[in-house]
Parts: sequence; C-alpha cells; structure tokens
Amino acid sequence: MSTARTIEILPDLAEVVTRSRDLIVERLQQAIAERGIATIALSGGSTPKPLYEQLATESLPWEQIHLFWGDERYVPYDHPDSNYRMVKQAWIDRVPLPSENIHPMPTQLADPVDAAIQHEADLRIFFKTRFANAKPAEWPALDVILLGMGDDAHTASLFPGTTALQVHDRWITVGEKSGQPRLTFTVPMINAARSVIFMLAGANKQAALQQVFAAQADDLMYPSRLIQPQGELWWVMDQAAAVGLPEGISLT
Ligand code: 6PG
Repeated sequence: MSTARTIEILPDLAEVVTRSRDLIVERLQQAIAERGIATIALSGGSTPKPLYEQLATESLPWEQIHLFWGDERYVPYDHPDSNYRMVKQAWIDRVPLPSENIHPMPTQLADPVDAAIQHEADLRIFFKTRFANAKPAEWPALDVILLGMGDDAHTASLFPGTTALQVHDRWITVGEKSGQPRLTFTVPMINAARSVIFMLAGANKQAALQQVFAAQADDLMYPSRLIQPQGELWWVMDQAAAVGLPEGISLT
C-alpha cells in the first residue's frame, strides 16, 4: 500500500496542469540535488500535452534529466499515435536535452515482444551504470512516473482484463488495446517509483474513479487500482472528474 497517497482536486484542467508541473519540477530538482540525476517516465494521451509544453518553459539542468515513457503505441516514432512524437513536439524539441537522455520505447522491431525485452535490457544497463553505487535492487526507482487514467480505468497500457496486468517478473511487457499491441511498464515497475502522479480531468473519468477508489472492486477490471507505489502516490484531478470519487474518501 502506498505510504503517502494524496488526492488534490483543482477547479479545471489548466490548474491540474499547473499543479502537476509544480509537483514534477519539485521532484526533479530534489532528485538532482540528492543524486545528481533525475528520471521521469511520461504518459501519453491528450491530458499531459499542455503539461509537457509548460515543462519546456522551465529553466532546468536538462543535462541531468532523463526522459522515459511509461507506455507506447507500437507504431513508428513519426506516427500520429506515437507518444514519443507527442512529447517530442510538445517538449523535447523546445529544450536542450542531450539525445542520450531520451529513452523512447523501441517500436521498430517486427515483434513487440522482442522490443519489450530489448527495452528492458537497455533500461537495466542504464540504471546499473548510472546508479552503480546504489544497493542492488530488483526494480529501478524512477523519481517520477506520470500516469493518466482512461475512462475504463486503464493506466499506461495496462488495460482491463489483459495479461499485462499479471506480469510481475518483468520491467516492460506487451499490453494490448483492441488487439493493437503496446509496450508498457508493468505494475511492479510503476509501483517501484519514488513518486507516481496521476493527472486527469473531465466528467468522463467519473465512473472509472468511482471503481478505482471503491472499497471493493475487481483490480483486473479497473487496473489503476493496482498502482500502489511504495513511494508517493498523487492523484491530481479537476472537479469534474472528482465528482466520481466515493463519498467520504480521504484526500490524504
Ligand atoms: C496512452 C496513455 C494512456 C492515457 C490514458 C488517458 O498511451 O494513451 O499512456 O494510458 O494516459 O488513456 O488518456 P487521456 O489523458 O487522453 O484521457
């Protein structure tokens, strides 16, 4: 169970974006102060695009910041559905991030299973190399993992009723949405993060939120319930979405 779950309800999407930006900047700066490097995994979808555009205006030590993706559609990087493409346009192209600090999920291999294995191998080398003096850990503790939540309570590319939800021995696995393959962080990979931030807005999230925060519900049908990080868990949402929260839910 998360040691620190906080729900913040803001008036609208603009405020959700600003608050999420502030939470992320604080955590990136703290990571750099403590370890000289900050790691953040990004979500796709539509909600975070304005957040990435705001982060691009921040004055940050970009050479000490590393970008990862919590999930990716299995399409070329220049495809309109690519999460990498969205982040590149909204953020990467606007800041002096060294190319070696950008770690997109590979989508050029014929088989997404091979891509998941390749990406995990690459990430293992990255974390082993960059955190050589850290105690060996089965899971890497990214400083921030930003997540969205679908109307069906999926997060990353962990969709209801899919086998990806039950992969606990890999960092990266293959998810699928309507038969389309996706690469995704696994549940334990996400739960190893120092800070997980859900960012969502809109009345269309109400039904999912009701199930995700219900005392009893099927975790495999509402996958965001599975996100219970050892570190911080932030839910940053607008009032329209928060209507879906069960009565009496504690905000902290
Ligand atoms: C993706 C995302 C996905 C997204 C949710 C919410 O690749 O689509 O990672 O998990 O966060 O579907 O999307 P919206 O922010 O557009 O509601």
